[in-house]
Amino acid sequence: MKIILIGYMGSGKTTLAKALATTKKIPFIDLDDYIATQEKISVQNIFATKGEIYFRKKEAFYLQQLLNREDNFILSLGGGTPCFGNNMLLIQQAFNTLSIYLKYSPHSLYQRLEKEKGRPLLKGVKREDLEEFISKHLFERAPFYHQATYTVIMDGLTLEESLQQLLKIMNSSHPHFL
Ligand code: S3P
Repeated sequence: MKIILIGYMGSGKTTLAKALATTKKIPFIDLDDYIATQEKISVQNIFATKGEIYFRKKEAFYLQQLLNREDNFILSLGGGTPCFGNNMLLIQQAFNTLSIYLKYSPHSLYQRLEKEKGRPLLKGVKREDLEEFISKHLFERAPFYHQATYTVIMDGLTLEESLQQLLKIMNSSHPHFL
């Protein structure tokens, strides 16, 4: 089975996917890292030199490639992946695949993102505008995120608590998981 973690930038998709993969002893793939490895250029550099539309085409291409694979893995997506093209539909229709939305409030996301630098989409956003930017952006993206098979409310959870919630979902939806 493939487990796909979905959520806004800063929602800990990669960290949780790694923790889940270690606990369950199955491979972990981060879509941004996968794109960078395949394209031999960092995601930041793709945005800077080729632009977002080029990135979105590559993102959709590699997502489909991964969904078509027959092996099992935990996959963390980029924050925008479910929101472009027919990516969310492909995820929903993929064989033996379960998606989980890691849901944070805009304020929690602001707190998690305010000290971060280097995310291409937040580059031009001033610190004082960041919370409002996140609120509006999340509002636009939420309809896509909510198409995930499961949603976990993440506000206030420790890493261990959120890991337990994910394990519970995996075990209940597929008791003999691997
Ligand atoms: C993006 C999120 C990033 C990365 C790219 C675009 C987005 O991934 O894919 O910068 O559109 O939200 P993270 O969610 O891992 O930061």
